[in-house]
Amino acid sequence: MQLQRKDLLGIEQLDRKEIELILEAARPFKSLFTRSIKKVPTLRGKTVVNLFYEPSTRTRLSFEIAAKRLSADVVNIATSSSSVVKGENLIDTGKTLEAMKADIIIIRHNLAGAPAVLGRNLHSSIINAGDGFHEHPTQGLLDLYTILDKKKKIEGLKVLLVGDILHSRVAKSNIWGLIKMGAQVRVAGPPTLIPAGIENMGVKVFYDLNEALKGVDVVNILRIQMERQQDNLFPSMHEYIELYQMTGDRLKYAKPDVLVMHPGPMNRGIEISSEVADSPAAVINEQVTNGIAVRMAVLYLLSAKAGGEHKQKIARNS
Ligand code: CP
Repeated sequence: MQLQRKDLLGIEQLDRKEIELILEAARPFKSLFTRSIKKVPTLRGKTVVNLFYEPSTRTRLSFEIAAKRLSADVVNIATSSSSVVKGENLIDTGKTLEAMKADIIIIRHNLAGAPAVLGRNLHSSIINAGDGFHEHPTQGLLDLYTILDKKKKIEGLKVLLVGDILHSRVAKSNIWGLIKMGAQVRVAGPPTLIPAGIENMGVKVFYDLNEALKGVDVVNILRIQMERQQDNLFPSMHEYIELYQMTGDRLKYAKPDVLVMHPGPMNRGIEISSEVADSPAAVINEQVTNGIAVRMAVLYLLSAKAGGEHKQKIARNS
């Protein structure tokens, strides 16, 4: 079975069956990781391009490793040393990659909607690797996979997202995915960093972290994104640490078998204490490992629609 869509732009557009399809497809890919040869020929002959306009360690490397394990040819573009710095616009850069027969383009951009613009203008498949404050769908999917792997279900679990919900694309993708999968979602953070009307997405809002933690099965701690703060929305660092840092004492309010997650990169000593980050409850490194399996699944499931026009041209010419 394949995804009946060309692009992965956000979890908002996916229905529960599509999410389940991706999570199920990831499982056999993960089982490859313990083998000495971790490679399969699934995407042999396909070209995957990583086009990152913002810094990344996990997502870019994870997509590169995922595509290589599927035997695709992978090209990474550092926009700082590309013709982007000469003023080339996004669509022209995308069309250039398409002219080189890129089947799948993975894009991270500071502007919400940039992947959708490429999706509308190119035949190549587009995967959103994070766009502005909008979504980071593969992070949301790998978080769902990790919860399912550890808790054996998502339906009915109480999941808390803590921190800067306003600027977090990870939070948006998590909320869409968790709600569609039947979890009860809570968010907690300073009032200035919780978007107005977020209750309409089906989440419960808390400003008191200890209250929010009571009885939760999973807590996902978000990175404080100092680079995206504006208009003095962020309280003082001292106040944030005092009220919202996840410490061992605070975590005791959650269920004893609570799962601690963080999308990375972590600011140790700010949103999370080292005591919590390095505790047995933390599955932060497992999230990274699962990310490769989930991205292999996404690349595989989109590959049927990838490079549609190239395939049609080849068929016409043969
Ligand atoms: N979680 C995440 O997106 O990390 P990177 O910014 O390192 O890709």
